[in-house]
Amino acid sequence: MTILTQIAPAHAQVLAAIHAVAFPPDERWDAAAMAELLAMPGTFGLIADAEGFILARVAADEAEILTLAVLPARTRQGLASQLLAATLRIAKAAGAAAMLLEVAEPNLAARGLYAVFGFGEVGRRRRYYADGSDALVLRLDLS
Ligand SMILES: CC(C)(COP(=O)(O)OP(=O)(O)OC[C@H]1O[C@@H](n2cnc3c(N)ncnc32)[C@H](O)[C@@H]1OP(=O)(O)O)[C@@H](O)C(=O)NCCC(=O)NCCS
Repeated sequence: MTILTQIAPAHAQVLAAIHAVAFPPDERWDAAAMAELLAMPGTFGLIADAEGFILARVAADEAEILTLAVLPARTRQGLASQLLAATLRIAKAAGAAAMLLEVAEPNLAARGLYAVFGFGEVGRRRRYYADGSDALVLRLDLS
């Protein structure tokens, strides 16, 4: 079982390094972007051995996944599932009644993961991503 560590501002560089390998070039977030996200009220995150991480935010009774990434060499080993399960528990404990997120329509890996957790489609943002693909808005009831 991988150890999950709570993300701190000092992790910004390693988060950017994982993100750069997991996402296409035009969707990458650098260390400055990570630091900015980590400074926002309600943001929290978990990192798994510098091989995967998740960032989320709780605002009032709703929570949102900001990003989730696993190194390609470590995918399909349950890392994202561990990160997501722990994040859902934290968000629920913080008072969130629902978890929301956006996922690119062609991203079948992420959509497969979210389907396993019971997320359902509640909206669509047309041409949301740099490659022109739509974002699907997914929601999971936490109550
Ligand atoms: C999406 C991502 C986070 C999944 O991470 P992971 O650690 O491989 O996920 P898990 O091993 O926990 O997978 C859990 C389940 O999700 C589904 N899943 C994961 N990857 C999949 C794929 N490539 N194709 C289809 N289903 C997939 C499967 O049901 C899987 O269970 P199984 O392996 O027993 O079949 C990872 O592929 C990634 O970082 N991708 C690039 C960045 C990204 O797209 N992030 C999400 C943005 S919203």
